[in-house]
Amino acid sequence: MNSTENNDELVETLLSDVLEVYGYDFTGYSRASLKRRIIRLYEMDGFVSFAEYRYKIRTDPGFFKRFLEQITINVTEMFRDPEFYRVLRSDILPRLGTYPFIRIWVAGCSTGEEAYSVAIFLKELNLLHKSLIYATDINSAVLENAAHSLIPLSKIKLYTENYIAAGGSEQFSDYYTANYSLGKLNDELKSKIIFSTHNLVSDNSFNEFQLILCRNVIIYFDRELQTKVFELFDNSLDKFGYLALGTKETLDFSTVSKNFERLNTGKIWRKIQ
Ligand SMILES: C[S@@+](CC[C@H](N)C(=O)[O-])C[C@H]1O[C@@H](n2cnc3c(N)ncnc32)[C@H](O)[C@@H]1O
Repeated sequence: MNSTENNDELVETLLSDVLEVYGYDFTGYSRASLKRRIIRLYEMDGFVSFAEYRYKIRTDPGFFKRFLEQITINVTEMFRDPEFYRVLRSDILPRLGTYPFIRIWVAGCSTGEEAYSVAIFLKELNLLHKSLIYATDINSAVLENAAHSLIPLSKIKLYTENYIAAGGSEQFSDYYTANYSLGKLNDELKSKIIFSTHNLVSDNSFNEFQLILCRNVIIYFDRELQTKVFELFDNSLDKFGYLALGTKETLDFSTVSKNFERLNTGKIWRKIQ
């Protein structure tokens, strides 16, 4: 791979192949990081030419699955941005408690840490029994991990600190059983989470929710794709439902922002019409 211009062209050709053969549309993803990842995978696997790499992706679904796993960014943690979870726990979830049944969508859930964190706070507020969390991602490999509900013990210190900073009222250790190098989260949490694949680019709304969390996902999308996804969320929320985004993301200035009011705290919007 030599000139940048040449690389750009090759990457675009590969993205049209992926759309044509597998139906995954990455054309609305911000280019810089996507391109870096595609090229890194190409170099790592030692292909003799980009044409060979293209051929492999087009003809080998197993390799394509790996490609998909490598180009999506799956970094996550429990109670990520504790201040956000503090507001969720003290303000948003109690308001949802007035509904007879609570439906929550965690879109772009990666390996599930966010969904399990929400489940823990629902439990502490005595709302878990009447809640269902739909946790979705484009990448089926991360969802398989999510369903195992395992956390590496090396992360426990960080998660415990996050949990305390977010206002957790119990001991974080009440929520898992340690076994060698892994902690297994309690089955009760998982029993209220449905993990399934859903592609925000091409799949439709599948329910009406009182709360949608989509944090640190649309940051990888260009403006046009962000708009499309916001419209999907607008269509998937009950009136007075809430939308939570990541710290670097905003609904302001989008085509649907007139349907929402922004809360004073954190990146949370409420649908008002
Ligand atoms: C950086 S992780 C964020 C995980 C979690 N929401 C958090 O904030 O910790 C981004 C996730 O979005 C997923 N993703 C990327 N494109 C997507 C799409 N088109 N539809 C659904 N999920 C997508 C990725 O597979 C990845 O798991």
